[in-house]
Amino acid sequence: MYRIPFNKPFIVGKELEYIAEAVSLGNIAADGYFTTKCSEFLADHAASPRVLMTPSCTASLEMAAMLCELGEGDEVILPSFTFVSTAACFVREGARPVFVDVRPDTLNIDETRIEAAITPRTRAIFVVHYAGVACEMDAILDIAKRHGLRVVEDAAQGVNATYRGRPLGGMGDLGAFSFHETKNFICGEGGALCINDLDLVERAEIIRDKGTNRQAFNRGEIAKYTWVDHGSSYVPSELSCAFLWAQLEKMEVITQRRREVHSRYQEALAPLEASGALRIPSTPAHCSLNYHMFAVLLKDMATRSLLIDHLKQRGILAVFHYVPLHLAPMGRRYGGGDADLPVTMDVSGRLLRLPFYYELSPDAQDEVIDAVHAFFGGGS
Ligand SMILES: Cc1ncc(COP(=O)(O)O)c(C=O)c1O
Repeated sequence: MYRIPFNKPFIVGKELEYIAEAVSLGNIAADGYFTTKCSEFLADHAASPRVLMTPSCTASLEMAAMLCELGEGDEVILPSFTFVSTAACFVREGARPVFVDVRPDTLNIDETRIEAAITPRTRAIFVVHYAGVACEMDAILDIAKRHGLRVVEDAAQGVNATYRGRPLGGMGDLGAFSFHETKNFICGEGGALCINDLDLVERAEIIRDKGTNRQAFNRGEIAKYTWVDHGSSYVPSELSCAFLWAQLEKMEVITQRRREVHSRYQEALAPLEASGALRIPSTPAHCSLNYHMFAVLLKDMATRSLLIDHLKQRGILAVFHYVPLHLAPMGRRYGGGDADLPVTMDVSGRLLRLPFYYELSPDAQDEVIDAVHAFFGGGS
């Protein structure tokens, strides 16, 4: 057990009260009062015509792959430096991942390398806004338009961050959010899908509801509902959405607190960056942060292992992040082993994330900061 964990779930206000209210309202299954509150709030927030709540970002991405009609023989461009769900969602439909390297500054997909990866089989680009820092969406949307490709934003970490003033998740054809307990706004397990192309809304509702047109029935548009398409149960429990609503209505309070944590790390570790001991991934001026995480890039993997051990001895848990997907057994099986991704290989081996959560106290954070400084020979 670590004294200072990497992440910690938190309650910001009325989470438990709203769960009790959901019970007393008489609906704790799907699409009740709180689910509607969350989806309407997120649609407004992300400037998306329709947002559907889901059980996870993974579920949202699976829906996105189905909505893009990805299948056997199709290729999808994405970074290798991402979570498994970004690829697994369309590989299960039969499509093949084509991995593109990331930029060394933001660790996001390198938009200048996308066009070279396009073939006559390419159908979509799945981008990942790493750490809530936006990908270069203007360039990516332009490439997609010229080549007739769908764009899906994996904005699992990007809720309440922007690109040139536009909310992440609201720019591609589809955008996926996560409310997993490690994210900024949480409900244990949870997600949402922004459907930014209006033509996809009707089918999205059907896919989410077991392949039935029950949503149209609920609105009184049809007399009875039936099985009309592929689908699954991509509806979250009303209890999860009740918890989440208490967090979404405090979005700015949570973000402000996370900003304080982020700034404290940034300021305290700046001297180590100046001396060349580590590097902090950058945020372009036209991107606003949601302060999802604080990561540092160390000299090499050996230094990272030593720092992890050093922090562990002090009861502090710091963790690395994605192991490149193209070298995972499934990545190799789908041809990723041949990909030449030098930046991905370099950064994934030496990136370290420091403890970061809503209730991280200044004292606890100072312990982490002091321990990092001590590792590099600067005191305690
Ligand atoms: C980039 C990315 N996509 C997708 C996911 C999956 O999110 P969920 O756990 O809500 O399915 C994660 C989880 O951390 C992630 O980092």
